Amino acid sequence: MAIKEVKTVGLLSKVNDWLEERFHISVLGPLLKKKTIPMHKYTAWYFPGGILLFLFGIQVVTGLMLMLFYQPDAEHAHESLLFIMQYVPYGWLIRGVHAYASWAMILTAMIHLFSTFFLKAYRKPREFTWLSGFALMMLVLGFGFTGYSLCWDMVSLFATKVGSEIAGQTPFIGKQLSMFMRGGEVVTEATLPRMYGLHICALPIATALLIGLHLLFVQVQGASVPIKIEKKKHREVPFFPDFLYRDAVLWLVIFFILVCAAVFFPKHLGEKADIMAVAPEGIEPEWYFMFAFQLLKVLPARMLGLEGRLVGVLVLLLGVAIFALIPFIDRKSARGIDSRWVNYLGWGAVVFILVMTYFAYASH
Ligand code: HEM
Repeated sequence: MAIKEVKTVGLLSKVNDWLEERFHISVLGPLLKKKTIPMHKYTAWYFPGGILLFLFGIQVVTGLMLMLFYQPDAEHAHESLLFIMQYVPYGWLIRGVHAYASWAMILTAMIHLFSTFFLKAYRKPREFTWLSGFALMMLVLGFGFTGYSLCWDMVSLFATKVGSEIAGQTPFIGKQLSMFMRGGEVVTEATLPRMYGLHICALPIATALLIGLHLLFVQVQGASVPIKIEKKKHREVPFFPDFLYRDAVLWLVIFFILVCAAVFFPKHLGEKADIMAVAPEGIEPEWYFMFAFQLLKVLPARMLGLEGRLVGVLVLLLGVAIFALIPFIDRKSARGIDSRWVNYLGWGAVVFILVMTYFAYASH
């Protein structure tokens, strides 16, 4: 009896009892206990997935706050952002955190993609975890592109023009794709509500559904162990609470960094977009599209009997297709043999992205 009394003392146990009586939450216990994380020298690479979840949460919360004051029409969008930054309490901070968290999300998605790639976490039976993740990468980039256009300043207007023009080069569906993005033949006032609809409705719904699917696969199949470690002995630690504590500490640190970035490097807003104006100097996309932008810039006007830009888009699409389908192309890893050419391919892509990005900024 004494033990029972001690158990029910304290707010936490009371809440627990309250929930247990109504929802029988104790059934979750075995589920949580079942989830373990392998401990080995690559364990750190299990963190980016959780960080992405946290960052998505930040984006939803700060995005909803911005939505309360943002006006998604070409006439008022820019002014409404100025209003958010100058008059809404902490509006500047929320805008800054939203913008920097979007960068962090794209960077972390890239790290997660390449780490699962190099560790061959995509191999059988996780082909669909990889595919759903790859689709998430595309959606995260879609958030970046549509979000940038919502600033509706000169640079973001022309970046939207150039970005949709490049999408227009896609074979077979290019014209339809650019019309869909622009809401017409060219970028006009009609483009902004289109981008807004994608940014606050279509993309979040698709992302939430895909994250659910992605996590379901991870939960059912458990965390993979890299080929090199598979045959060796390793420890497993319970996800709850051991691993989740570490996750939580990382999330706090990241949140602190985002707030510091927003405070010490406030997000700039350029001059209001003018659709009739000629393109200003220094039109450029955000850093994560720079490598593609630079590739298209350095290619000659015509090559291999085709327009240079088209060749560039085809090269990029081929790269995307190979990476998306890697679980089905790399048959060796599925049999537990580390395929070297896949590692070369991965490093090739990393070096290409870094070098192109470097030259894009160096040639300013
Ligand atoms: C919003 C984006 C994403 C979220 C929220 C997310 C979340 C997660 C989480 C929480 C895990 C479990 C922890 C771990 O093993 O790392 C995971 C695993 C995994 N993710 Fe993602 N992910 C996202 C994007 C991606 C991308 C872009 C890829 C690659 C194309 C990817 C591929 C994988 C794979 C293959 C695993 C299994 C790893 C293993 O079992 O070792 N995910 N993801």
